[in-house]
Amino acid sequence: MDAIIPAPVYVKPVPAESFTLTSATVVSATGAGVPVAEHLAAQLDISVVEGTGGAIALTLDEAAVTHPEGYRLCVGKERVTLAAGTPAGLFAGVQTLLQLHSDRVIAGGEVRDEPRFAHRGAMLDMSRHFYTVAEVKRFVDQLARFKLNVLHLHLTDDQGWRIEIRSWPRLATVGGGTQVGGGGGGYYTQDDYRDLVAYAAARHITVVPEIDVPGHTTAALASYPELNADGVAPAVFTGRGDATGFSSLATGKEVTYRFMGDVLREVAALTPGEYLHLGTDETHATPEDERLRFLDRVLPMVADLGKSVMGWHEILRSPDPPVSTVPQYWGRASSDPAMASAVARGQRVLLSPAHRVYLDMKYEPGMEIGYDWAGCVDVADVYGWDPGTYMEGVPEAAVLGIEAPLWSETLRSYADVEAMAFPRLAAVAELGWSPRSAHDWDSFARRLAAYGPRWDADGVNYHRSAQIRWR
Ligand code: ACM
Repeated sequence: MDAIIPAPVYVKPVPAESFTLTSATVVSATGAGVPVAEHLAAQLDISVVEGTGGAIALTLDEAAVTHPEGYRLCVGKERVTLAAGTPAGLFAGVQTLLQLHSDRVIAGGEVRDEPRFAHRGAMLDMSRHFYTVAEVKRFVDQLARFKLNVLHLHLTDDQGWRIEIRSWPRLATVGGGTQVGGGGGGYYTQDDYRDLVAYAAARHITVVPEIDVPGHTTAALASYPELNADGVAPAVFTGRGDATGFSSLATGKEVTYRFMGDVLREVAALTPGEYLHLGTDETHATPEDERLRFLDRVLPMVADLGKSVMGWHEILRSPDPPVSTVPQYWGRASSDPAMASAVARGQRVLLSPAHRVYLDMKYEPGMEIGYDWAGCVDVADVYGWDPGTYMEGVPEAAVLGIEAPLWSETLRSYADVEAMAFPRLAAVAELGWSPRSAHDWDSFARRLAAYGPRWDADGVNYHRSAQIRWR
């Protein structure tokens, strides 16, 4: 009961009331709660009945909670009850229940819980190195355990275009044909991508697709010469991009806007979530006046598709972005006038300060993988800030949430993804979910050490940070 990550709002352990699973234990649910019960049953190797009579009973009841993602969990000797107002709330409660389970016993007591921020995300860069659908699903499973609810996919960059666009097929077949270091590469067909989005949705994780424009576009430029200002296609870039921002779509050419319209239309059709991410970072190769005209034409395309725009915080350098546009701050300063004025005009923001949550930074000097341009970022650095007070002029109410990006230039395999993501994403999850009053490094470090065997059981290649006394 006292080891849950992220820390719940309220916990009352009652060890004498622990519940023991038997071969006869069933989990009950009705309606939209049934898929959540099935998820729990699969994890505990028990069965589901439709109704209300299970020894483990999941109930949809809006009156039981004060937040759409909130839940109440009571574990007693005879019965376990979990109530929430939505399937997402039940799913969050199930993650807590699973952390209370060990050796067929669910620790007794009571939990009341709800999230602090709406957006609790991780980003995976599949452009610099490609990851298979099976690998990304594995990543999704691990995000879900910590109540993370957004997976941002960096689908396009200089080194690879990873999603099939049927009206521009060479993006995938040419632009997806390689990766950092050459060879390899790959792309998701639209069916692959739909499958991935549905898998995440079943775990209450929304996928935010990023099509990074107008810079970071060599893979697209390599696929279609007409997208280049000089009409000449370069090769797909296979370097690491230690110098970034050297490519640009031909923002002065009409074909570029036909391209953007087609790509965004196809990606929007694959996206049940509210947001399309347009990147817009590091446009050093795009003249600023052309960049502004480009955004002035492209932002309305997203609105016309019924979606809202996310972008790196450089998106704030646009003429008059819709108030729904969410800038994702990846800087290191705690003050940025553009962010403060965005908030003043009613925009909400996503925080990803690089020296706190960039998962491609090394944990400590001497690691073979990772960068250190934002410093080394060990678990205590990830944990040791407050998104609600981090930026001047950005009060907690203006913070949509936090997100930890994992850029993949230096990673060698999916095992490296896990090493860079875990345990740091557990700290991100606690910052995103738990009330500030629960923030306590010593408590978190102890709970994280206790979580290690669960990662071992899942075969997760987590980094054994020297800051944690792993068992
Ligand atoms: C970024 O790191 N260029 C968003």
